[in-house]
Amino acid sequence: MEITVLKNYSELSSTIADIVEKTIQDDLYDLEKRELTKFILPTGSTPLGLYEELVKRKLDWGMVTTFNLDEYIINPNHEQSYHTFMRKNLFDRIDIYPGMCNFPDRNTQAYEDKINEIDLCILGIGTNGHIAFNEPGSSFDSETRVVDLDEQTIEDNSRFFDSVDDVPKQAITMGLKTIMKSKKIVLMANGVHKYKILNVAMNGGITEKVPASILQKHKNVEVYYCD
Ligand code: GLP
Repeated sequence: MEITVLKNYSELSSTIADIVEKTIQDDLYDLEKRELTKFILPTGSTPLGLYEELVKRKLDWGMVTTFNLDEYIINPNHEQSYHTFMRKNLFDRIDIYPGMCNFPDRNTQAYEDKINEIDLCILGIGTNGHIAFNEPGSSFDSETRVVDLDEQTIEDNSRFFDSVDDVPKQAITMGLKTIMKSKKIVLMANGVHKYKILNVAMNGGITEKVPASILQKHKNVEVYYCD
């Protein structure tokens, strides 16, 4: 699969922001389309620049609904919850209806049932090849569910917490099958520490040991990387 290499983080952020903007605009001017524009959104450090750029662009979010990929088993008001992350970095800074911003919770089947006709899914990738919190070994048939986090993920995400012991050990994540239902998927990766796994996922064998490798089976995926 083609990996588009961009000059720097700013170009990575604005390239993905262009795709988001175009998706919103195309739908606003598509008189046939009566549904909301539906996005799946990621957390992590990679999309921070994208969200900053989207805030600056002052887009019309009135007809948009979002679904976050995952959330820790944590109090949603915790400063490191993904609810807090999204409010702080995007939702509280744009004119989206708070009721349109969806997060997975213990009622996993209800969340799964809501995720249909997604126009655009934006993904990051973990250093172990995970997407959302689908850790190595996750079934390609998986749906929204509670999962145990991999040692590597707990270690990687400990930078956001006071100590590694404070990182939640479980999360709720969309499944790989859920993600694959999206009409279009864009994966963004930043930093040399991500390049090797990105290349393995996009150009190596398609295997549940590397969850992101499932994307090779999707017809409409774009992959963007910068050092
Ligand atoms: C987290 C999230 C993923 C994210 C990944 C990479 O654990 N669950 O959705 O893509 O790790 O995060 P970062 O962008 O901080 O490297």
